[in-house]
Amino acid sequence: MTFDALIARGQRIEPRDDMPEGYRKTLVRQIAQHAHSEIIGMQPEGEWITRAPSLRRKAILFAKVQDEAGHGLYLYSAAETLGVDRAELTELLLQGRQKYSSIFNYPTLSFADVGVIGWFVDGAAICNQVPLCRSSYGPYARAMVRICKEESFHQRQGYELLLRMMSGTEAQRADVQDAVDRWWWPSLMMFGPPDDDSPNTAQSMAWGIKRHSNDELRQRFVDMTVPQAEKLGVTLPDPELRWNEERGHHDFGRPDFDELKRVISGDGPCNEQRMARRRQAHEDGAWVRAAAAAHAAKHRAQQGRSQQHRWQQDGSQEEQG
Ligand SMILES: [Fe+2]
Ligand SMILES: [Fe+2]
Repeated sequence: MTFDALIARGQRIEPRDDMPEGYRKTLVRQIAQHAHSEIIGMQPEGEWITRAPSLRRKAILFAKVQDEAGHGLYLYSAAETLGVDRAELTELLLQGRQKYSSIFNYPTLSFADVGVIGWFVDGAAICNQVPLCRSSYGPYARAMVRICKEESFHQRQGYELLLRMMSGTEAQRADVQDAVDRWWWPSLMMFGPPDDDSPNTAQSMAWGIKRHSNDELRQRFVDMTVPQAEKLGVTLPDPELRWNEERGHHDFGRPDFDELKRVISGDGPCNEQRMARRRQAHEDGAWVRAAAAAHAAKHRAQQGRSQQHRWQQDGSQEEQG
């Protein structure tokens, strides 16, 4: 069946299928950006692992950050089915030719940030990613299913941490509110530019890569988060935020999309630090990659030798027969 027929029937495109070059390129860009975000996203929270207030919180945070590394690996593997390899994608990131999510360029100033990242950032990731489980490209959609299960655990751990802090001291409650104030708008920006300034959305939706527009997903996130904020007892920092009976949705203020552009183009509070750390980690890991490659080569050579041995045996048995 042709690509267009598969898309029209809502069937999955698999690596063996013919696909337009634009489709392949869009997917490589999107999956790579997603993979990079998972890996760079380990940094802001990772900074708190050694400073977690208890062993329990340390274990939870450690597991969460490790999950994000796993998400990066599933996604790099999904990208590899499109004929690019991880080394190539990492190189593009390090050269600044591929992006990662703007949200990870903001600093984590207190332990409450760990909770708010789980609640907002993983929450926004869920809104973005649940529809991607039905994305038209098979390997991407399948990777998403598992990732979404883990993201929903991440969101709950963040919210649970905040519930605990809100029943703590005055200073803890103030830390939570301060973190909410700092992360709310950057979290809304995670959904990307507004629909009227998002030129690739229509094509991505026609190809079944994307299922909803940026503004639809942003609305869904706001509607999901407002009652959670009420329950928690924090104020979302938007004076325009209110329920609109007619629309059946919350109205809310417009994020500063100029800030989004600045942060994406490298001028956020932590861009330099994040990239420097990523570059350093890549260089520090060079010996691991070299060792893994040497091991794989040795394994291949051994397999080759035993294969040759089997053929020789088969041959001599035939001669005897
Ligand atoms: Fe993740
Ligand atoms: Fe997560």
